[in-house]
Amino acid sequence: MNAQQLTDTANGLVAGDKGLLAMDESNATCNKRFAQLGIAQTEEARRAYRELIVTTPGLGESISGAILYDETICQKKKDGTPFIKVLTAAGIIPGIKVDTGAKDLAAHAGEKITEGLDGLRERLAEYAAMGARFAKWRAVIALGDDIPSRGCIEANAHALARYAGLCQEAGLVPIVEPEVLMDGAPTLERCRAVTEAVLHTVFDQLYTQRVMLEGMLLKPNMVLPGLAAPKQATVAEVAEATVTCLLRSVPAAVPGIAFLSGGQSSELASPRLNAMNVAFKSRAPWALAFSFARAIQQPALEIWHGEESNVAAAQQALYHRARCNRDARRGQYDAATERT
Ligand code: 13P
Repeated sequence: MNAQQLTDTANGLVAGDKGLLAMDESNATCNKRFAQLGIAQTEEARRAYRELIVTTPGLGESISGAILYDETICQKKKDGTPFIKVLTAAGIIPGIKVDTGAKDLAAHAGEKITEGLDGLRERLAEYAAMGARFAKWRAVIALGDDIPSRGCIEANAHALARYAGLCQEAGLVPIVEPEVLMDGAPTLERCRAVTEAVLHTVFDQLYTQRVMLEGMLLKPNMVLPGLAAPKQATVAEVAEATVTCLLRSVPAAVPGIAFLSGGQSSELASPRLNAMNVAFKSRAPWALAFSFARAIQQPALEIWHGEESNVAAAQQALYHRARCNRDARRGQYDAATERT
């Protein structure tokens, strides 16, 4: 393991005021999003959409790294230029999602375990040879009356730590993503308590598996009430609950925290991240950054709608959302710019 290289990459991904763009939807998830908008669910449509993203003018001003999917990392622009080359030329570090998805956890109704450890060492070596410098693995923790169980939290934390160790061995920075889902109606307080318990278990496992904290990033959920909770939270309450939870559970050696958006609207994710940086940047030992998929891409996807003639307008929307999140990292997001 080259510790300096890992630390440099991890720091580079959260340097300044940039963040990550997650464009690593599996084919099934990408097709689901396309189907909702009536876009053809073909390999060519997925390629054309990803070409739109990676060729967005000025994207590298706000985006430090892009997370790709197995199909995407091998794809090329129409003119034959590999996406990896396009991203690198734009100053964007390429990364790759390496888990193979969340499957039902035996004897734990309603709970999932993320798989993909078999053959991972070999796959990581291939991705590193293609130019990837970091990786991502997502664990999902559902909330319900009797869940999450200890069994689900521990199995997922163990898998995340095994994955992270293999990544560092291969010279790739692991992004460790334990996502507490915001479905249903749990309160903000319940989400905070569960997120804290999950993060404690994850960092215990990372320690046990000898993962170098300086060479990784954490990608957690924000602490939010469930989407169906009767009492929603203010921007300030979300910022306070999220950072309090992280201060209690994430070691200072971790260089950065890059949030997932988890189904929040774009117009909520940016001000919440902004509020965290306004109130806590001077106290937080790690960068408070973003690694959004939907909260950066969704407006652009809706404008594109599968039509070549909409590409420029969709790219403008993507650029705008990336810039809003860069502003949020600085604590300078202005909701007024959403309406211009
Ligand atoms: P969202 O920002 O849409 O939650 O996606 C982030 C991600 O990478 C999920 O694994």
